[in-house]
Order: sequence, then structure tokens, then C-alpha cells
Amino acid sequence: MRHPVVMGNWKLNGSKEMVVDLLTGLNAELEGVTGVDVAVAPPALFIDLAERTLTDAGSAIILGAQNTDINNQGAFTGDTSPAMLKEFGATHIIIGHSERREYHKESDEFVAKKFAFLKENGLTPVLCIGETEAQNEAGETESVCARQIDAVINLLGAEALNGAIIAYEPIWAIGTGKAATADDAQRIHASIRAHIAEKNADVAKNIVIQYGGSVKPENAAAYFAQPDIDGALVGGAALDAKSFAAIAKAAAVAKAQ
Ligand code: 13P
Repeated sequence: MRHPVVMGNWKLNGSKEMVVDLLTGLNAELEGVTGVDVAVAPPALFIDLAERTLTDAGSAIILGAQNTDINNQGAFTGDTSPAMLKEFGATHIIIGHSERREYHKESDEFVAKKFAFLKENGLTPVLCIGETEAQNEAGETESVCARQIDAVINLLGAEALNGAIIAYEPIWAIGTGKAATADDAQRIHASIRAHIAEKNADVAKNIVIQYGGSVKPENAAAYFAQPDIDGALVGGAALDAKSFAAIAKAAAVAKAQ
């Protein structure tokens, strides 16, 4: 059985006060909730404070990050390494987010290198994939997702996906309020799993595939009712403790059935 994972991607949002308030609030909201792993990815600068806040609260919330470099140290101005993330307790690291692919011109191959380096450092990659609106309208969704995953498989083999997380995030659904329907998301998740199964059936069966893109408390349960949707990567709604906790609770309830 796959264990659901609901992760909050805070993107470029936050302040010291917000980190403490949001994490303290979220931890309280999640008291007694089991059956779902809940993770947060604050901006890198706030990971230290987030770690201290979660430790002080004795929280089970998993700490993550939004990006990594492919080196652990050296002359790489502006970057953050897996070793640093690890030292501050961040384990679940988002890579290949469409905003990085678009604004920072990150290629499939570069994202695959990040995947490899995270694994080498014992961290959990959260590999984002997904199509643009134009690709969606052209019927290219499955092939785009397959290509993005194949960059990792070609570099490392399908077994490298073991223990990693895939987040299917249709770009046109991110921050737009225009979420994919649960049925459409399920169809794509099933195709992603089938694509991996062509290489390794066990890995495909066990890998957590999250849906991301305008997930809200109101639509979360419908996604989690789908057999191949194992959690969510949440942007906007993760900035509110009650909303994010409601999404996590919906996953715990749906997947307990
Ligand atoms: P929204 O939930 O704000 O649409 O963002 C999704 C996302 O990009 C998470 O990584």
C-alpha cells in the first residue's frame, strides 16, 4: 500500500513571523492525524527557523525544500546544496518545478542530475512534471510526462525512482484556480504509472504520485478518491494552516478506506 504524502510548496512567500505562525498552527491542526505524511517546503532562507520551530513543537511534519544545486560545495554563487539542506533537517526536495523549468531554463537533463545528486546524498526527490496548456490542447500530455520521467530513467535506471515522489502538475492548473478534473488527473496518473511499469512493475506500484495545481480543501477529496493519486503538492492553499491541514486530513481519510 502506498502511503499518501501531502506537501506544501510555499514558493517565494514567508517571513520569520509567518514561518512560526504557520508551522505552529499547522502542527496543532494536525494533532492526532495519522495515515498521511505532511511535508512543507519553505524558502531556503527559512529552513533553519522552520527546523527549530518544528523541533520545539515536537512535530511530525516533514521538512523539505524547493530546489537544490548539483554540487555540495564550491564556487556556485547563490546556490544551496543537499549537504546544507540535510544539515538543517530538510529531506524532501522539490526539483523540476515548472517555475524553475520556465524562469531558470532548467532542462529535463539538468533536473535528472539534481535527482541523481539528491539520491546520492540520501534525500528524497520530489520530481515535478507536467504539460503546458498548449501541449495539453495538442494531446501531448502523456508524452511530455513520459519524456520528463525518461530523463531520470535514462540517466539512472527505473530503480532510482524507488522511494522518490513524482508530482504531476499541469502547468495551466498552477495558481490559476483552473484545476484538472479528478477524472483527468487520474487518467494521467495511471498513464505515468503504466509508463514506469514498462520498465519496472514494482517501482511503478510503489511510487507516490502527487497531483498539484489549484488543490483546495473543496476539491482535495475528489482527487484522493482516485486510485492512482497518492497525495498532493499544494501551493497557495499551503500558506493557510487550516486549509492545508484540511487537504492533508482529506488524504488520510480517503486513503484509509
Ligand atoms: P497552486 O496550488 O497555488 O496552484 O500551486 C501548485 C504548485 O505549483 C505546487 O508546487
